[in-house]
Amino acid sequence: MHMAVKSSKPNRRRFIFSCFVFIFFLCVFASINQVRFNGILKFGRFALSNESLPTNEEEVRILISVLTIPDQYLRRHFLRLVYGTQTYEGAKVDVKFVLCNLTKEDQKVMVGLEIMRYNDIIILNCTENMNKGKTSTFFTTLPDIFNGVGPYPPYHYVMKADDDTYVRLNSLVMSLRPLPREDLYYGFVIPCGSMDPFKHYMSGMGFVVSWDIVEWIHGSDIPKKHVEGPEDKVFGDWMRWGRRGNNRYNAKWYMYNYPDPPSVCSHQLWNDTIAVHLLKNQDKWIRTLTFFNHTHPLNPSKMYHTC
Ligand SMILES: *[C@@H]1O[C@H](CO)[C@@H](O)[C@H](O)[C@H]1NC(C)=O
Ligand SMILES: *[C@@H]1O[C@H](CO)[C@@H](O)[C@H](O)[C@H]1NC(C)=O
Ligand SMILES: *[C@@H]1O[C@H](CO)[C@@H](O)[C@H](O)[C@H]1NC(C)=O
Ligand SMILES: *[C@@H]1O[C@H](CO)[C@@H](O)[C@H](O)[C@H]1NC(C)=O
Ligand SMILES: *[C@@H]1O[C@H](CO)[C@@H](O)[C@H](O)[C@H]1NC(C)=O
Repeated sequence: MHMAVKSSKPNRRRFIFSCFVFIFFLCVFASINQVRFNGILKFGRFALSNESLPTNEEEVRILISVLTIPDQYLRRHFLRLVYGTQTYEGAKVDVKFVLCNLTKEDQKVMVGLEIMRYNDIIILNCTENMNKGKTSTFFTTLPDIFNGVGPYPPYHYVMKADDDTYVRLNSLVMSLRPLPREDLYYGFVIPCGSMDPFKHYMSGMGFVVSWDIVEWIHGSDIPKKHVEGPEDKVFGDWMRWGRRGNNRYNAKWYMYNYPDPPSVCSHQLWNDTIAVHLLKNQDKWIRTLTFFNHTHPLNPSKMYHTC
C-alpha cells in the first residue's frame, strides 16, 4: 500500500487491476470453501448428533412380536383386526405371533390354516411354559430367521408385546423415529413408581430393542447362562450384565396398565398413549378402542350403518 501510493500512474492502474483480480479470486476461493464448509457441517450433524440418520431417506422398520400360545385362535384373530386397521406413516410395521412347538394334531391344521392365510406366525423350538426361556429362545432365533433376506437390518426395532396389550402403532412409530437405532432399550420401566429407565427393567407389556441388541443376545454367553426366571426381569439382567441398552427410553406414562383395577402401574386412558396393558376381557378392549376412536375412520357406505 505504502509503495502503491508513491508509484506513478500506469503502475497504479496496474495495481488497481491486480487488486480486482486478487479480490475476484478471493471471492471464488471463499465461495468454494463455503460449499465445502457446508458439507462438513452437514456431515458433522449426522455424525455427531443422536438423530442417527436422515429421517426421510429410510423408513423405520419395526417388528412387533406378540408372544402367545397355539390355542389362542380367537385372540390372534382379534389382534389381526386391531393391528390391521391402524394407519401410520414413515414406517414398515410387521406384527407376528410367536408360539412354541405345536403339541396337538388339531393345532397343526388350525395354525397351518393361519399361516397359509396370514403368514404371520413364528414357531420356535421350545415348549410352552412360563419362565423357561421363551423370550430368550425368541431373541436368539430372530437373526437366523431374518438376517440375509431383504435389507439389513431386517428390522431397526423389535418389540416384544403381550397379547393383552393394545399398541397404538402411529404413536409408537412417532416416538421411535427420533431415537437412536443402536443400543436402544425402550419401554415401561419397572418398578411402576420409578421414572429412571436404568432402575430395573422394562415391563413385558411391550418393550423395544434395536437390532444390534438382538444380535448381541444371539451371540453372547450371558443370555445362554441365565435363562430361568421372570422373562422380562431376566432380559433386564442381560442388559445390565452385558452393559447393553445404554440408550434407554422410559415410555411411561405413554404406556400403562388399564385403569381398572387402579394400581401404581395403571393410569386413566388419555390421548398421549402408545400402549395399554392388561386388557383381560372383551369389555376392557371395547372401552379402550372406543376411547381412542379406533373405528371412527369407517367410510360411509350403502352397505352398512353402524349406529
Ligand atoms: C441428544 O441426546 C442428548 C442427551 O441424551 C439430549 O439432551 C439432546 O437433546 C439430544 N439431541 C438431539 C438433537 O436429539
Ligand atoms: C430343539 O430343541 C431340542 C431340545 O431343546 C434340541 O434337542 C433340538 O436339537 C432342537 N432342534 C432344532 C431343530 O434346533
Ligand atoms: C419341537 O419340535 C421339533 C420338530 O418336531 C423337534 O425337533 C424339537 O425337539 C421340539 N422341541 C422341543 C423343545 O420339544
Ligand atoms: C385429545 O385429542 C383430541 C384431538 O387431538 C382433542 O380434540 C382433545 O381435546 C384431546 N383431549 C384431551 C383430554 O387432551
Ligand atoms: C375421539 O373423538 C371425540 C369426538 O370426535 C373427540 O372429542 C376425542 O378427543 C377423540 N379422542 C381421541 C383420543 O382422539
